[in-house]
Order: sequence, then C-alpha cells, then structure tokens
Amino acid sequence: MSSAPAALLDAGLAPATTPRHPPRLAADDLPPPPLDEAELLDLAPAQAAERAAALPLSTRFRLRAEITPVQQAFLDRHGFILFDRVASRVEVDTILAEVDRAEAELLRSGQRKVFGVPVWFGTDPDGQPYLQRMGFTSVLSPFLARFVRHGRFEPVRKLIGQDARIGDKEKDGVVFNRYVRAEGSLRPDLAWHTDALRDLFYNRRMPGPMLNVGLHFDRIRADDGGLRVLPGTHTQSGFSTLFSKIHFVSNRPDPREVAVETWPGDLTVHDGRMWHRVQGAPVTGWASLRRSMYVPYVCDAYQPKGEDSPTPLYMRLFDTIMRWRQARARRRLQG
Ligand SMILES: [Fe+2]
Repeated sequence: MSSAPAALLDAGLAPATTPRHPPRLAADDLPPPPLDEAELLDLAPAQAAERAAALPLSTRFRLRAEITPVQQAFLDRHGFILFDRVASRVEVDTILAEVDRAEAELLRSGQRKVFGVPVWFGTDPDGQPYLQRMGFTSVLSPFLARFVRHGRFEPVRKLIGQDARIGDKEKDGVVFNRYVRAEGSLRPDLAWHTDALRDLFYNRRMPGPMLNVGLHFDRIRADDGGLRVLPGTHTQSGFSTLFSKIHFVSNRPDPREVAVETWPGDLTVHDGRMWHRVQGAPVTGWASLRRSMYVPYVCDAYQPKGEDSPTPLYMRLFDTIMRWRQARARRRLQG
C-alpha cells in the first residue's frame, strides 16, 4: 500500500475531508498480510496455475506495477481476486465525503438521473432520504475522476485489455453503492445474478470475459453479509447463465459460495459472468452500512453518454421495481 499523503500528492488530489459515516474499524483489526510473491514472479504459466490452485480462496494479493503470473492464474481459475488496501484510508474517507457532497447536491437540485441512469434514494436509519446507488459518480466529482485514473491502477486496466479505457462517461459510468439495512431502505441485499444479462441488453450477445473492478469502503466480515461469489462459474455456458439460477430472485446461500471479506480500500476484480450476490447484513441501522464502487473499464467502440441520454431499458425495469419496493416500504412504515 502506498503511503497516504504521497499517493494524494502525486495524483494532485484534494485534501481529505471527513465523511458523515467513516468506516468503522478497530485500530488492531488488521488484515492478514498479502501473499509474499517475491520468489514467484518468474513462474511459467503452468507452474503459476499449479501454485494458484493450492492457495486458499481467501488469499489477499498485493497490487504491484504488473499483474504477477500467480495473480493471473488465480483470477483465471476462480473468476475473482482481491488486492490488499489499494486505496489509503485518507483516500477512502475523501471518496466517501465526495459521495456525501454529491448526495446533498442531488437532494438540493431534485435531479434524479445522471446521464439517463436513475439515482436511487431510499430511507436511512434516521428516517432521512439516503442515496443508495448512483451511476456516473466521477462526473459529479473531479476528485474521483482523477483518482480512478491514478497510475497504480494501470496493471488493473491492462488486465481488462491492452486498449481498455476507463468508461466514466459510458455504460453506467463509475457506480457507487451504499447498502444499509433499515425500515424503508431500498437495497438491504441483492439476489444471485450474473452481469451477462446487462451485457445482453447493451450488446445483444453473450459476452466474453467481463471483469468488474470494485473498491470496498467498509470492514466486512463474512458474518456482516456482503459479496458472495461462486468460484469457477465464470466459464459456465450461456444456458447455465440463463437457467441454473433465476436472476435477481433467489438470495439463498449456496454451499459452494465464498464470502469476500474486505478491509477499507480493498480492491476486487470479479468476472461478471460468474454468479454473485450480496448477502444482507444481520443487523439494522448504521452498523449494517456497506459501500462499494465499481469502475467501468471498456474495450468496445466509444459510446459516451450525456445529459440527454435516454434511460436504458434494463434500468427502466429496475427503476420500476425499486419504486414499487419503496412504496411498499412506505406503506409498511405508515401501517
Ligand atoms: Fe453484479
């Protein structure tokens, strides 16, 4: 992990601000050290694959200037990989404060879409409107636009493709999620799904590897809920993608699932073709808060969006479901 002030300085980033809800983390709660790869950097692909197969699924890796053979093999085999605290604590706090600021601006202006993608507001544990998901976050935050382009993410970009670019004005842009469990919250969890469906809507065909790059802002133990993935299912057939589970309906634990445990600043890459879900927190209130941000890396033809972009069909469908859930939650609160 780079030292916080140095990383901020060399990116020319803004000074830190305090978010409304900083990550809750005990001072002595440190992650296990990332895998020491000093002796493994020159492994041939076959040896790296063997080494990766022997590693526990909870292995944490350190992001270096290049993706290592073992990291590549681990990702190829399991469909996901976790990098230890790629963002410093200062950067984590600053990004969270930027999202607080964007939320306040959206509430003030009444704007409910950014570049055609609906912004979802739910109700927080204090009964106030609470931003739960927004697309194109970096459009509303110059700090974030610079942060996602920082040189340390170059190996991640190249992992997606030599010509990959940050699509912060394409697809849904940089997506910020805030999950909190309260009466009236729109998104206590997210059922099993693959991201291949979204690609079917956008590109009208089954996608090749689709790597999702996520930054995690909270300390999440397996018991706290959070991201669950089914390792190895990224290479499943189109048939299995469509029919082995029903998208966005079941959220039952699967015996083969892995809980992705995170510390603030961790970065994950997961292949969107694999089955994944978000397990809701077992508690309600601010203790259940979990935040993540997904950075889109794009290889296809440049298709920027703007203020006048229409809402994609699949987003309109989601928006209808979210409005219905919100109305139901309101009725419950009143009744
Ligand atoms: Fe997903």
